[in-house]
Amino acid sequence: MQSLTAKIIGVGKALPEKRLTNADLEQMVETSDEWISKRVGIKERRIAQDDEYNSTFATTAAQAAIQMAGVDAKEIDFIIVATTTPDTVYPSVACLVQHNIGAVNASVLDVAAACTGFVYGAALAWGMIKSGLMKNILVIGSEINTAFVDWSDRDTCILFGDGAGAALFTVSDDANKGVLSMELGGDGSLKDLLVLPNSGSRKYTEPDGSPSLRATRMSGNEVYKNAVRHMNEAALAVLAKAGLTSEDVSLLIAHQANIRIIDAVAKRLKLPAEKVFINIEKYGNTSAATVPLALCEAVEQERLKPGDILVIDAFGAGLTWGAMAIRWA
Ligand code: UT7
Repeated sequence: MQSLTAKIIGVGKALPEKRLTNADLEQMVETSDEWISKRVGIKERRIAQDDEYNSTFATTAAQAAIQMAGVDAKEIDFIIVATTTPDTVYPSVACLVQHNIGAVNASVLDVAAACTGFVYGAALAWGMIKSGLMKNILVIGSEINTAFVDWSDRDTCILFGDGAGAALFTVSDDANKGVLSMELGGDGSLKDLLVLPNSGSRKYTEPDGSPSLRATRMSGNEVYKNAVRHMNEAALAVLAKAGLTSEDVSLLIAHQANIRIIDAVAKRLKLPAEKVFINIEKYGNTSAATVPLALCEAVEQERLKPGDILVIDAFGAGLTWGAMAIRWA
């Protein structure tokens, strides 16, 4: 059998217009621009309005990716949307995007792997394309995180933002041009470190019996430590599987949750700052959207050229983690 892989031929992004700055948050909770900038690296984040949905941004990002790729929507075989903040649990966001862009021949699936979702989605796309079952697959990361924020909780409300990014994967006849390797993982024993209560069928209550708020709860320090460890291990694993070392890496696109986490991972990989993509200051943590948003901006800024080794690397609730090594084609 011919050895195939998947390569990215189009990227896109979409963001709400409305900005929430650190100065705005200073008016809402006991915090400061200095604390947020230094401890997390965020200056502002985007917030969706009531008439802007997850599918609104997912659709716009998808349209940009397929336009850049020059692929007709009818040629798309599969739409995978990585999200844990869909418009509705059903129908999936992927179904809504399929309808909005006219991808009438596409299969549709939402993937829930929290902030690792885009990497999981890309891994599914890679498997389908590499096996020869499908040709063109749209992978989108899209989130409306701010719908699930407790705006009185300074531990979490400063972190999150909304937005979407998309990438169109297609078949590459040269197995050395495109995705080279992947590493995925999860540890359900750490399920309580990052939870969105009352977001599914289980009812969460407080000790007094009142319903818990449907807002992110996080043990920040524990998530932080696990993130650094697993992202580092995942990046090293994909490099080893591809027969590469960190010296071969041209660009690291890591999940944008905290600049200190990204710096710690980059330091362990001995990557200089110019090989690490950062845009957390503009958008905050957009969960499954951070990696494709950053990828889109890396392409816009011409930070990737053919032959470059790109590593994407993410972690999130679950806990989940995943990475991919890609030779840019
Ligand atoms: O996408 C996956 C989702 N999550 C993550 O990736 C988050 C991973 N964790 C983190 O990024 C960090 O743990 C946080 C940014 C959440 C917190 O940073 P930290 O350096 O771990 O701070 P901390 O929780 O240890 O708190 C340090 C201090 C505390 O005060 P005391 O007890 O030292 O007096 C907090 O009360 O900072 C205080 N603090 C704040 N101060 C000003 C916590 N939040 C704030 C705030 N503004 N917003």
